[in-house]
Amino acid sequence: MADALLIDGKAFAAGLRGRVGEGVAALAAQGIAKPGLATVLVGADPASEVYVRSKGRTAAELGMASFDHRLPPETTQAELLALIGRLNRDPAVDGILVQLPLPRHIDTTQVLLAIDPAKDVDGFHPINVGRLGSLAPGAPLDFSVPCTPLGCSMLLGDALGPLAGRNAVVVGRSNLVGRPVAQLLLRADCTVTICHSRTRDLAALCRTADILVVAIGRPEFVKGDWIKPGAAVIDVGVNRVPVAEGKTRLVGDVAFAEARGVAGHITPVPGGVGPMTVACLMYNTLQAARRTAGLPFLAV
Ligand SMILES: NC(=O)c1ccc[n+]([C@@H]2O[C@H](COP(=O)([O-])OP(=O)(O)OC[C@H]3O[C@@H](n4cnc5c(N)ncnc54)[C@H](OP(=O)(O)O)[C@@H]3O)[C@@H](O)[C@H]2O)c1
Repeated sequence: MADALLIDGKAFAAGLRGRVGEGVAALAAQGIAKPGLATVLVGADPASEVYVRSKGRTAAELGMASFDHRLPPETTQAELLALIGRLNRDPAVDGILVQLPLPRHIDTTQVLLAIDPAKDVDGFHPINVGRLGSLAPGAPLDFSVPCTPLGCSMLLGDALGPLAGRNAVVVGRSNLVGRPVAQLLLRADCTVTICHSRTRDLAALCRTADILVVAIGRPEFVKGDWIKPGAAVIDVGVNRVPVAEGKTRLVGDVAFAEARGVAGHITPVPGGVGPMTVACLMYNTLQAARRTAGLPFLAV
């Protein structure tokens, strides 16, 4: 069997960013203020700093306003909630992103609840989670959907076209990835199975999948012989593993070299799902700005 076609998330994300940039320019041409994204980082976690910097930089590259709020690690919950209140009221801010995880003394649920759902471009506010969980099949996604799952569904739609009737298996049930991915696949009329650490005979369930999405954070856990020949495999995992001479490399949750010989389509790691997250954040911010301006959803 020929090797799987690679799903090039890097190229798709670049195209999506370009279309979002055109959407931003179209707003300016109508005299509408540029979309504004506020990022909030509490503390100095190096990985979080990299993510936040890349979000702010990409927003600026696409012509958006970017407001960067860095707070010291000892920031109190009341201070953080006060900032979110100000951002909720600020008409220049269309999207608010609070970088997770937050320090342990802050109650993440209370913080997510405080964000105006209309500005919740991460899609983590319970109102937006509820909207996604109660969608009718094929209903419009006219609210913010979590960025990484949205990216997975865009890549699948681009690679496969309509997904109706396909058996989809999602491995992982986190609120960040697994659950929203499953909801999006259900919306696309797939028959969806959600697996987790207590699932019995995971390999056999994976072999039923026409679409296999893996988001568990276990390096190369899903083996080639777990994959149905011709299946589309979306590997969300990002794991840094040691290699020779003290160096490391990134691998996914799927044993790529084995899986590539069996699957029909597969995302590489890096260069698959990863680049879609920030691109979808920009997409969510543009859509939030359009809704605020009373403009309809823009298919990009
Ligand atoms: N932009 C991106 O590319 C991006 C974004 C987000 C996450 N990620 C990556 O995606 C991966 C998952 O992230 P996450 O936030 O969803 O992780 P998480 O919150 O740790 O959730 C992991 C899920 O995997 C399940 N699981 C763990 N071990 C398993 C096993 N042996 N068999 C079956 N299921 C198992 C867990 O089951 P239980 O619920 O039973 O514990 C849980 O539902 C990580 O590698 C993360 O770095 C990438």
